[in-house]
Amino acid sequence: MWTSPGLWLAATFIISQQICGISTGDLSDDRTLNSILLATKYGHPPTQYDVVTEDGYILAVYRLPGKGRIPVLLVHGFMDSSDTFLIRGNTSLAIYLANKGYDVWLANTRGNRYSRRHKTLNPDKDPAFWQFSFHEMGYYDLPAVIDTILNETGAKNVTAIGHSQGNTIFYVLGSERKEYNSKINVLLALAPIAFLQNVQGPLGTVIKSEPVISGLIKTVRVNELLGDNTALGIALHSTCSVPVLGYTKCAYGLIFPFVGSDPTELEPDFFQNVAKRFPAGGSGQSLLHFLQVGHRKKFAQYDYGSATNKKIYNSSEPPLYRLDRVTMLVALYAAANDGFSTVADVDLLRQLLAKVVYYLLNPLPLCNHADYVWGRTANVYLYPYLDIILNIYNRL
Ligand SMILES: *[C@@H]1O[C@H](CO)[C@@H](O)[C@H](O)[C@H]1NC(C)=O
Ligand SMILES: *[C@@H]1O[C@H](CO)[C@@H](O)[C@H](O)[C@H]1NC(C)=O
Ligand SMILES: *[C@@H]1O[C@H](CO)[C@@H](O)[C@H](O)[C@H]1NC(C)=O
Ligand SMILES: *[C@@H]1O[C@H](CO)[C@@H](O)[C@H](O)[C@H]1NC(C)=O
Repeated sequence: MWTSPGLWLAATFIISQQICGISTGDLSDDRTLNSILLATKYGHPPTQYDVVTEDGYILAVYRLPGKGRIPVLLVHGFMDSSDTFLIRGNTSLAIYLANKGYDVWLANTRGNRYSRRHKTLNPDKDPAFWQFSFHEMGYYDLPAVIDTILNETGAKNVTAIGHSQGNTIFYVLGSERKEYNSKINVLLALAPIAFLQNVQGPLGTVIKSEPVISGLIKTVRVNELLGDNTALGIALHSTCSVPVLGYTKCAYGLIFPFVGSDPTELEPDFFQNVAKRFPAGGSGQSLLHFLQVGHRKKFAQYDYGSATNKKIYNSSEPPLYRLDRVTMLVALYAAANDGFSTVADVDLLRQLLAKVVYYLLNPLPLCNHADYVWGRTANVYLYPYLDIILNIYNRL
């Protein structure tokens, strides 16, 4: 019965679809849906919490309730938002975990699309609103979000999953607010970032130009960067979401050169969904802080210039983050084709963290920085490795 080539092809197709777990179907209706609508569409209408930080920022946190004893907090990366954990629909990380029964919480760090609010500062009028980097996200945003979760659930700690900057800020937290280490059950660090000194390619070039870029951003006074209402943000969303040409320009021209090329995992049709939701905005200072880390080869606090540093830090150089004080358990997930989070830089981090419980170099050679959140089949080749750690430390 398998003699007909057509049937054989159809069977192969069905099997390969099953192997690759491609059941996402057509996601083109999702392009303009926000986090609430996406989570609702995929079966988990969320509760929104407006979490207020010690320094007055108001952050949107979404909860996809589940029966899990230990809540799971997902934190997005640089210029990204909670949308990133939902835009793959049924195979998105947030939906995957919620379907398994975990109590899933999605953070939005200060200044992005959902957390562009403050008790007294106006993001459109007050430059002071934008004077933050990933430091403040670790120092203020995470404590406020974690305490809200512990308060609401009665749990003793949270399991955290952070993508890129979303794990950087946990090292800031563990180093600067030591008491929070015991509130983290385990951190799953996807595309870990603390050091950026082995980055090559166009991003390496950008890092080498840190002094020039820094001067430019300060002179032009870039406060908000790549927000939905900024000229650059609007231009990117509209240019990159155009069918076909947007993919050529933005996926091949911008995304792959920076994050590593993996076109089969970020296909043209779905790229339109990404382009509508990313970037979600942040501060110019955040970009500068990362460039400083890369250029100076130090995971240190923000450099304001020696005079201001003296006032703030009582030293002309910004202090290093103390990774030996990060005593939470950490699972590191690296990938050979990751243009930001290079294997060499992850190794540096791995040597300095106090308690690394797991390290994975993804067996797929093309796995890149974005696949953790946008990968077409991440549910097949990535999430099972997350399950290994969750099954040990976070049994439902
Ligand atoms: C998502 O998965 C659920 C449960 O398996 C299914 O009922 C639903 O149709 C899927 N939705 C889409 C858009 O694929
Ligand atoms: C925790 O809950 C108590 C009582 O409901 C409330 O007073 C307090 O503000 C909450 N703290 C946080 C961080 O949510
Ligand atoms: C987190 O809380 C759970 C349940 O209360 C406990 O079993 C686990 O040991 C805690 N984790 C840490 C790192 O303290
Ligand atoms: C500032 O640094 C100097 C020299 O390292 C030290 O002697 C002094 O105690 C510090 N002052 C404060 C307020 O920490």
